[in-house]
Amino acid sequence: MTKKPGTSTSAGMRVMRTRVKKKSGLKESSRRWLERHMNDPYVQRSKADGYRSRAAYKLIEIDDRYQLLKPGMKVIDLGAAPGGWCQVAAARTGSTAEKPHVVGIDYLGMDAVPGAVVLEMDFLDDAAPARLMEALSGEPDVVLSDMAAPTTGHRRTDHLRTEHLCEVAADFAISVLKPGGHFLSKTFQGGTEHEVLALLKKHFRSVHHVKPPASREESVELYLLAKDFKGRASSDAE
Ligand SMILES: C[S@@+](CC[C@H](N)C(=O)[O-])C[C@H]1O[C@@H](n2cnc3c(N)ncnc32)[C@H](O)[C@@H]1O
Repeated sequence: MTKKPGTSTSAGMRVMRTRVKKKSGLKESSRRWLERHMNDPYVQRSKADGYRSRAAYKLIEIDDRYQLLKPGMKVIDLGAAPGGWCQVAAARTGSTAEKPHVVGIDYLGMDAVPGAVVLEMDFLDDAAPARLMEALSGEPDVVLSDMAAPTTGHRRTDHLRTEHLCEVAADFAISVLKPGGHFLSKTFQGGTEHEVLALLKKHFRSVHHVKPPASREESVELYLLAKDFKGRASSDAE
């Protein structure tokens, strides 16, 4: 690996360029991925800021724009590992290790995040919703989902699997959120989200598609933000 002097990105972030040599022994696709990862300004910034993931900046940017997280709020974070969103949610809601009001879930293990309780289990497990609610002890103000199915390399399959996670997360949010609460979920651009969109429009006062700057431009990733939950009784009556 060789390091080149720093350059500035269009976002004004300073990046130390690193090259991974072609003779590194890696497959060319892995070498390119590693080089892109190491030169990603958000990756470098997350290390400096102490965030577990570059994904933390997606939540920061969305929250800065839409003001979802407020002190004292209860938050559920679906697909929490390695913990970037839990860190941001705990900091912005003032959740502490003594009195945590952020609960995450992931089937991958992760290091503890101060101010968050994290369940190591599959959200699609029938027991998961009850376990989350038990850990939170009260209705959430915000349900976040950054869940992504492991990629198979087959784009359509990956898309459908992540879309399914978004739908299940939306159903869960509608069944547990406090009136006035918010739901934010990863989805993919590409058309199959019509049903979930209709569902969210029925139950929330506003629904937005959001592509935060930290989400790579070339990625089909997109976020669905549903704000101001109408409440179960009022939206069921419509
Ligand atoms: C993009 S990562 C989340 C990154 C996280 N927001 C952060 O800031 O660190 C997606 C996560 O979703 C998790 N995931 C996918 N399907 C899941 C499921 N059915 N139950 C629980 N977690 C799941 C994956 O294990 C992965 O850790």
